[in-house]
Amino acid sequence: MVTVLLDDIGLLVTNDPERDGPLGEVRNAAVLVEGGVLRWVGPATSAPVADSRVGCGGRAVLPGFVDSHAHLVFAGERAEEFTARMSGRPYDAGGIGATVRETRAAPDEVLHARASALVAEMLAGGTTTVEIKSGYGLTVRDEGRSLAVAASLTTETTYLGAHVVPPEYAGRRDDYVDLVRGDMLAACAPAARWVDVFCDRGAFDAEESRAVLTAGIAAGLSARLHANQLGPGPGVRLGVELGAASVDHCTHLTEEDVAALAGSATVATLLPGAEFSTRSPYPDARRLLDAGVTVALATDCNPGSSYTSSMAFCVALAVRDMGMTPAEAVWAATAGGARALLRDDVGVLRPGARADLTVLDAPSYVHLAYRPGVPLVREVWKDGRPVSG
Ligand code: NIG
Ligand code: FE
Repeated sequence: MVTVLLDDIGLLVTNDPERDGPLGEVRNAAVLVEGGVLRWVGPATSAPVADSRVGCGGRAVLPGFVDSHAHLVFAGERAEEFTARMSGRPYDAGGIGATVRETRAAPDEVLHARASALVAEMLAGGTTTVEIKSGYGLTVRDEGRSLAVAASLTTETTYLGAHVVPPEYAGRRDDYVDLVRGDMLAACAPAARWVDVFCDRGAFDAEESRAVLTAGIAAGLSARLHANQLGPGPGVRLGVELGAASVDHCTHLTEEDVAALAGSATVATLLPGAEFSTRSPYPDARRLLDAGVTVALATDCNPGSSYTSSMAFCVALAVRDMGMTPAEAVWAATAGGARALLRDDVGVLRPGARADLTVLDAPSYVHLAYRPGVPLVREVWKDGRPVSG
């Protein structure tokens, strides 16, 4: 198979724990790509001979971002809700109903075109792996077609029938939970890798969340949760107890929550775009990191609480407002996201890993936070091929 050598990399972030430093950095580096996979990584001076060579001009190269939490299957948008929030109206997830109405009314082609445009936007911004949730359909038919759209765009598909109780089930919550863990799960499980529940105030309580998650696990899916976004609650501890790969948001945590996470393999995925767009206090990443918790960063891209597809923006927020160092934030947005998806082939640049990488128009990854809002992603390689730039 044809080999390509990317060399003249000023600073390479590998995230390889066998290398020195928190990011396994290599200066003046090169990587050898064959097919969709990395075959060799190291100093350019000892690089093997390849069929062709691409110079990176001394720039920084990172693993592609791994966005482990995104809601990309929806119709419509909610700019007016955002405007009202910026004038003081609080976020309460009540707007989800508006997106559910528009999503149900949209043809499959529209849902696919919208989600696919967001995936393209993400790729151009350096995101090479994305998780995509259902959750704006909330009927057997509409969750099923949402998962079909998600599965056409990623292998990291998540069934979120338990996003909120839809209006037609008002006063009949138990019936809706039965549907989510029964017929809706049966229709969605073949296209889903993950089961997720919004366990929070105004969404689902601990008992309901447990019922849905255990049914999903019994159907062969792996668990992840939305937890402790809008207030303190049982979600984080439930996730740890059920062995969830990740609990996401983690904005309001007690000492018990932090201790439970620290003693587990569950990742805390922080979603600063949501706090930005809902004008809420940011989660305390420093507290989690100091306790030894594995932290990931993701966009939560959705039309209500966080309509950004930019992992670079999330890195900048995490550094500026959540107490993370630039190195910790970059790790969380790459290797951390991979951990949250139980993947060891992405988020890391070492032989055998996917050849998914991002070339920055900057000498260092620090510029992602140091130059916020600047489009620094110059080129993206996905499966061993350049896809933009
Ligand atoms: O992750 N928290 C629940 N769900 C989304 C918001 C969905 C919406 O407002 O449309 C979230 O923030
Ligand atoms: Fe979310």
